Amino acid sequence: MSQLTILGLESSCDDTGAAVVRGTPGDATVLSSVVEGQNSLHEAFGGVVPEIAARAHAERIDVVVRHALERAGISLSDLDGVAVTAGPGLIGGVMSGVMCAKGIAIGAGLPLIGVNHLAGHALTPRLTDGVAFPYLMLLVSGGHCQFLLVRGPEDYSRLGGTIDDAPGEAFDKTARLLALPQPGGPSVEAAALDGDPKRFRFPRPLLDRPGCDMSFSGLKTALLRTRDEVMDDNRLKASDRVDLCAGFQAAVVDVLVEKTRRALAIYLQDAPAVPVLAVAGGVAANKAIRAGLETVCDQMSVQFTAPPLALCTDNGAMIAYAGLERFAGGAQDDMTLAARPRWPL
Ligand code: KG4
Ligand code: ZN
Repeated sequence: MSQLTILGLESSCDDTGAAVVRGTPGDATVLSSVVEGQNSLHEAFGGVVPEIAARAHAERIDVVVRHALERAGISLSDLDGVAVTAGPGLIGGVMSGVMCAKGIAIGAGLPLIGVNHLAGHALTPRLTDGVAFPYLMLLVSGGHCQFLLVRGPEDYSRLGGTIDDAPGEAFDKTARLLALPQPGGPSVEAAALDGDPKRFRFPRPLLDRPGCDMSFSGLKTALLRTRDEVMDDNRLKASDRVDLCAGFQAAVVDVLVEKTRRALAIYLQDAPAVPVLAVAGGVAANKAIRAGLETVCDQMSVQFTAPPLALCTDNGAMIAYAGLERFAGGAQDDMTLAARPRWPL
């Protein structure tokens, strides 16, 4: 199969991304990947403000695209197609990306390929490691938490996922409750290193029920209650803070590990000779979570793989690559491609 060179645009949350990927399905290289975050714009509000995000994407996406092309050392005429996240996500941002991609496609006479953001995450292990189908993907970020059985670029089964908050959201809320900096994941993880995970026993929701669904919102409520019990005169001692972080993180690890064990058992009923569990999403950066997942994979003789962090979090390269897979399979969109706030795989 001849090599394809695809530009990918991502703007579904608070990262404006553009990237160029070249190759064939299962054997592609990232020529460039530019991501411009918006943390500083949303910091004061304690979360992503959709209106601010949309405006920032609209203002910057053309510049980010230009940088990606420059860094790849190519021009529009070298491209075989333009891929763009068409959902799910914050609609204003998704629209900015889709409009920009349509403009490029019309102006340069290129095919347009709409990509589901979740497919972008789910296919990343094929970009980074050439992982063969079918594999199991655990997608854990600030906005997502689900097990996906990935059988092909257009063939996914969701084995379960969170019924409320995503783990990243729980880490962020925990950080807020304990006056630790945002994003909460890294700061709670760092604090947990100094804490005793056994001092406070937080609930492990849904572990007593069959299946791969998870719940993390009750954990935050339990943490708030325990924090208020140990606070003295409205002040939280540093030693209590680190123990709370360690207890919280231990509960998240236990839930993710046990549910992964169950998802793997389903996957292994019909798995290839070399079964693989891949993780993606910002929460995959957490060392305690990774260690737990690696242990369960060892026990079940499954290979574990995690893309480098820059490709785990939102980026244009995963969209370019997912677009490459779709396009190589004959899929293409036209100018009626719509931005979709909700779009299950
Ligand atoms: O994938 P991502 O960059 O964005 C989306 O949510 O789509 O993930 C960001 C999330 C945040 O909630 C952040 O707190 C969490 O990933 N995160 C972590 C760690 N690093 C980032 N959670 C736990 N431990 C970490 N080390
Ligand atoms: Zn994402």
